[in-house]
Amino acid sequence: MNSLSVKHLVGIRDLTKEDINTIFTTADSFKQVINRPIKKVPSLRDITIANLFFENSTRTRLSFELAQKRLSADVINFSASSSSVKKGETLLDTVNNILSMKVDMVVMRHPNPGAAMYLSKKIDAKIINAGDGTHEHPTQALLDAYSIREKLGSVKGKKVVIVGDILHSRVALSNIYCLQKLGAEVMVCGPATLIPKHINELGVLVSHNLKEALEWCDVANMLRIQLERQNELGYFPSIREYAMSFGLNKQLLDSLSKEIIVMHPGPINRGVEITSDVADSNQSIILQQVENGVAIRMAAIYLLASDIGR
Ligand code: CP
Repeated sequence: MNSLSVKHLVGIRDLTKEDINTIFTTADSFKQVINRPIKKVPSLRDITIANLFFENSTRTRLSFELAQKRLSADVINFSASSSSVKKGETLLDTVNNILSMKVDMVVMRHPNPGAAMYLSKKIDAKIINAGDGTHEHPTQALLDAYSIREKLGSVKGKKVVIVGDILHSRVALSNIYCLQKLGAEVMVCGPATLIPKHINELGVLVSHNLKEALEWCDVANMLRIQLERQNELGYFPSIREYAMSFGLNKQLLDSLSKEIIVMHPGPINRGVEITSDVADSNQSIILQQVENGVAIRMAAIYLLASDIGR
């Protein structure tokens, strides 16, 4: 088994290009497995994984659980809303109690940036970050880049624009790291209020004009406005005006001089950052992204588990 240069998957920033390519080639094999009549392999029969979700999730949570079950791991699920966290227990106490039940790996989503890194320094089990506040969402970036590779043959040399609420987006940051490591050019596009002030230090281009950004790119990754992370109003005049300036509709898509690929990490706010006729069009690979998420997460779990108990 090829292993990774990291013990935990906390962020794309820590991975090498070789790590990412190892995850992709492993995911290629698992994609074949999950398209067979028997969609399961016995690889992780001796491994127990806890999914700890302190924040809402549909895709990531189900995708991780399915990936673990396809690898034959034992799985336990934890949701903060129904746990003793509500009674004042610390994150570390909660996790240590779960680990004392002989858990080998923790997949965690948490609202606080750095929560996964903090845990990775305090406990012995493997940690996979399933999204930590506005920081990183590494498996989302991996499945996004993998989907571009699948659709366009490679990521190297491709132009990708990430549109929307870059300021509050962990998907944007992980995508920037991942795409750049694989040799893509990255642009971010949105209102100035939703673009971090020093973003060009990451080596990305910045645009505030959606039409120009779309003319430049091969791939547009449309992000939603993260209203739950915006603690004050005033980043833009209204949702309607945001949609008029930065929403992708069919008329705009069809006006471009070339056919681009449209992505979205979900959940979609139809009619805001993307209209239904674009989200459901044959230029959209949104559901392929979700499908690829299972194979990518199988690969990440399998590779990280390679040294457990050895
Ligand atoms: N893309 C993503 O992280 O979706 P969920 O919040 O539904 O997991």
